[in-house]
Amino acid sequence: MGDLEISLKILLTGVGSYLPNNKYSNDDLTKLVETSDEWISKRSGIKKRHFVSANETTSDMAFIAAKKAIKNANISKHEIDLIIVATTTPDNTFPSTATLVQKKLSINAVSFDVQAVCAGFVFALSVAKSMMSDGIYKNCLVIGADSMSKLLDWKDRSTSVLFGDGAGAIMLQKIENNENFYNDWGILSNVIHSDGQYYDILKTNGGVSSDQKTGYIQMQGKEVFKHAVDKLSTSLEEALKESNKKINELDWLVPHQANQRIILAVADRMKIDINKVISTVSNHGNTSAASIPLALDEAVSSNKILNGNLIGIHAIGGGLSWGASIIRIGKP
Ligand code: ACO
Repeated sequence: MGDLEISLKILLTGVGSYLPNNKYSNDDLTKLVETSDEWISKRSGIKKRHFVSANETTSDMAFIAAKKAIKNANISKHEIDLIIVATTTPDNTFPSTATLVQKKLSINAVSFDVQAVCAGFVFALSVAKSMMSDGIYKNCLVIGADSMSKLLDWKDRSTSVLFGDGAGAIMLQKIENNENFYNDWGILSNVIHSDGQYYDILKTNGGVSSDQKTGYIQMQGKEVFKHAVDKLSTSLEEALKESNKKINELDWLVPHQANQRIILAVADRMKIDINKVISTVSNHGNTSAASIPLALDEAVSSNKILNGNLIGIHAIGGGLSWGASIIRIGKP
């Protein structure tokens, strides 16, 4: 049977992103909550965030990011057969935001959402990889999109200053690895984890089946910080091992953009040159599932990350849920 097996690779061929027009600097937030630019900058590295306007929704942002990713991948939208949206802030409780993106794109594609909060993008990537490797799907849009502003409690200054809204998307394409031509390309490894014993350290204080409300973000900041540094590091180590790569082989690390202090602490622990770590958190705060594809798009658009570069991505969010992936982006 071995001779008949076709080796398949999942390539990352396009990326796109979107940030809403409404910008709020740290100084702007001092009108909403008792805080200062100095406190926010020192604790998080965040300088500004973007919030959706009154009539703008998660699917609107996801749609714009998706269109850019499709254009950059240079394929027809009608070739897409799978759409996975990672989001915690859907337009409606149901149906899925992915089906709205499908409707806006006017295409036929199996579409559904994945919810793993800030780790949503790496979870969606893992689901996409499995469905493409084992199933009939050839071209998948993986989108991370969140309107975190809708979950902010402006009476809680310790959380409200950290988040923003946005969307990022990537195009994945399955290809037959004839004569091992694509051996070292595409998604080389992908690991995900969850541990519900930490459910309470980062959550909303409401929900559909508990009180029929969406609730507001509540976070035990110091606990989350500690777990973030540890689990981002261990999952990256695991993904490197699975792909048979070493940390110094990475051209770039694109971490979850939650907090510059977490990014620096992980870089220090992993002994990776900080100049190889993409950081865009100052520009948009924590955009949850959107943060990695947003940072990736900014780095690709500014010609930092180039076709053929080996990148690591990793994220952690409520659950706790976390994961990492090693990817050689583009195609030969
Ligand atoms: N402005 C001014 N003061 C504030 C603010 C604010 N926005 N928020 C809290 N404070 C005050 C508190 O009231 C407290 O004052 P007190 O000492 O008089 O009681 C004090 O600042 C707390 O300061 P620290 O103990 O120094 O706070 P800490 O260093 O823990 O920083 C932070 C808080 C930034 C939330 C930190 O714990 C953190 O980064 N945690 C990680 C959380 C994170 O990034 N989460 C993102 C979501 S999860 C994810 O994506 C991984």
